[in-house]
Amino acid sequence: MNEKILVIDYGSQYNQLIVRRIRDLGVFSELIHPEELCDDHLLGAKGIILSGGPNSVYDQNAPKLPKLILDSKVPILGICYGMQLLAHTLGGKVTSHEKKEYGLTFMDILKPNPLTKDLSSGLNVWMSHGDQVSQLPTGFIPLASSKTTPYAMMMNQEETIFGIQFHPEVRHTEHGLTMIDHFITQICHARKTWTMPHFIKDKTKEIKDLVQEGHVICALSGGVDSSVVAALLNHILGKQFTPIFVDHGLLRQGEAEQVKKTFEHRFQMRLITVDAKERFLNKLKGISDPEKKRKIIGEEFIRVFEDEVKKMGQVDYLAQGTLYTDVIESGTKTAQTIKSHHNVGGLPKHMSLKLIEPLNTLFKDEVRKLGLALGLPEEIVMRQPFPGPGLAIRILGEVTEVKIRIVQESDAILREEIKAHHLDQDIWQYFTVLTPLKTVGVMGDQRTYDHVLVIRAVTSIDGMTADFAQIPYPILQKISNRMTNEVRGINRVVYDITSKPPGTIEWE
Ligand code: XMP
Repeated sequence: MNEKILVIDYGSQYNQLIVRRIRDLGVFSELIHPEELCDDHLLGAKGIILSGGPNSVYDQNAPKLPKLILDSKVPILGICYGMQLLAHTLGGKVTSHEKKEYGLTFMDILKPNPLTKDLSSGLNVWMSHGDQVSQLPTGFIPLASSKTTPYAMMMNQEETIFGIQFHPEVRHTEHGLTMIDHFITQICHARKTWTMPHFIKDKTKEIKDLVQEGHVICALSGGVDSSVVAALLNHILGKQFTPIFVDHGLLRQGEAEQVKKTFEHRFQMRLITVDAKERFLNKLKGISDPEKKRKIIGEEFIRVFEDEVKKMGQVDYLAQGTLYTDVIESGTKTAQTIKSHHNVGGLPKHMSLKLIEPLNTLFKDEVRKLGLALGLPEEIVMRQPFPGPGLAIRILGEVTEVKIRIVQESDAILREEIKAHHLDQDIWQYFTVLTPLKTVGVMGDQRTYDHVLVIRAVTSIDGMTADFAQIPYPILQKISNRMTNEVRGINRVVYDITSKPPGTIEWE
């Protein structure tokens, strides 16, 4: 059983960050909603962090402190709302302030304590609160104060329950990570065993126990998540695992070959490759609407996949590359659907196969680390995000073979130049988009009338918002020259300088 630190989710925008910081420090951590907390979650828990949140403890529907937490006798750290909730529940007092305290604040340490051990006597910390504790519960000691917050830190006499009004997980807080580290090591005595080899060992046991003699399949798309799922399951199950690679012909230049080379030859997997290019092209004939294209590709993918599975013998499980962010974000999305984001590689719900989601406790960067630990090449593991419907949504209007060639060739040039100029680490996603627009140009002495191609390159953290990447003009010039000279069918290249919002990253 892995030792872990539970983070109770009271709704702060920084919650995932707390979990990530703890994992970065080498201890497993997971985020649990207070109403979902049960005895099982507490197995292996060495400490509990109560997160911040938007509520006041006096709100009618304010989330409560589950009894289980205090009963568990596990050390507790309450952050912001978590501190107020502790004080309120244990008999202290919380008062509301009209003015919200937001930003960097200097805090004096009043008393030596395990959280700020070996740190200086004053620290700049990140505050973001309206309410604050105005009277400590009996048995609690004040540890720090700022100009506006008399109880910026508190602990009980036994040194097992702590409250801090500031956010240690935010980078602006001086020694924030050290304070989290002190909590997990010096107060909770958690061992730092959360490493990828450890994860692989745990998953091996878990999946072998579950699958027994059964057979597992997965849809391999060539993207990071499905590639790591395949490498992991191949490592654990060997011949009891078969990845199925549906080549819909809408991948980037050379990617289908790379998938086959990596998984068939290097990893010696029993890879089933389905060349379904014709099938997809036929289905997409005459279709221009982006959402219709997405739907057709998603559905056709499932059909091809099902056809292959029918040809196989006994199959018991379907593995999918669901990530931890998908798990904790599902159900909270109320936003309007801008794009349906059909993700090729998932979906066949009605196939009566049991589901295995071996990455559903991992963040994306951990998935990449796992991929490297399993021996996947960097070109796959560090790959930029690529949409399930592939190049079909980078060809505005109807998809044809010629247009796929234009996008593949121009995208290959862009990738080559971005890599050659070492910009690939800084730019989050970069690709080309073929427009149906035709303009007049001149090549040699000839008039041309050809398509306009767009270069799209953005910086982003998570794809939710993005800025256009500031690629130096001389590099853009070289890319544009190469594209107009080397790619037949275009005579003009433009650079998209729109951020998201108001633009989206993809054009469709
Ligand atoms: P947008 O264009 O919505 O893209 O700003 C945000 C991120 O999502 C990717 N994207 C998709 N991924 N299926 C996917 O699996 C889709 O239909 C899809 N549409 C957009 C896009 O590449 C970017 O990384």
